[in-house]
Amino acid sequence: MTDDDMVVRELLLICGSLRAASTNMAMMRTVLQMLPDGVAGTLYEGLATLPHFDPDDDHDPLPAAVESLRASLRGADAIMFCTPEYAGGLPGSFKNLLDWTVGGQEIELPVGWINVSTAPGGAQRAHESLGVVLGYTGAQVVATACKQIPVRRDLIDSDGTIGDETIRSEVSHVIAEILTHVPRQHRTVGDQGAGLGG
Ligand SMILES: Cc1cc2nc3c(=O)[nH]c(=O)nc-3n(C[C@H](O)[C@H](O)[C@H](O)COP(=O)(O)O)c2cc1C
Repeated sequence: MTDDDMVVRELLLICGSLRAASTNMAMMRTVLQMLPDGVAGTLYEGLATLPHFDPDDDHDPLPAAVESLRASLRGADAIMFCTPEYAGGLPGSFKNLLDWTVGGQEIELPVGWINVSTAPGGAQRAHESLGVVLGYTGAQVVATACKQIPVRRDLIDSDGTIGDETIRSEVSHVIAEILTHVPRQHRTVGDQGAGLGG
């Protein structure tokens, strides 16, 4: 290994909410901030630009937003999701993202999720649904990296992350659990971009 080599694992963070002040996105930013050395995080920010899934459009050349999503997935070693529940299920835009992956091999990765809901029902139906949908994608759901960590909106700091120490301690446990399932791999620094492109 030369000085230019480093151990890099890529964690892709996908939020199911489009809301500007989203609690789920605050959690994803917090995970990004807390990643240990040797782990690179990418916050997926293309949810709003994805076209509606249509099997007739699922061929080359793909819509640019879909190609970008799939490139992000191909470059990832693991995925963390964080989604709200809408009307007893997954937000439509997030389900749409998942539909673009069903039938492909992009999510055949270790995945986990953090459920930040403070609602009495704990957004359980959305997360049951997420588990069902991921069952169609070949994802390897890491049970110990799927955790309910309720986050009140007033716990989001002005920088858009969550500074609360109790919450961060639980988040660090989830990060450690997902990374346990990702083999360390050696990539040359200059190879990281190539990895993202698949
Ligand atoms: C249209 C709509 C439907 C919702 N339905 C549910 C629901 O079925 N169950 C639930 O626990 N929360 C529900 N909520 C509350 C959201 O999950 C909650 O506001 C959450 O914080 C949104 O996530 P965000 O802060 O990341 O945007 C709903 C909110 C909206 C706007």
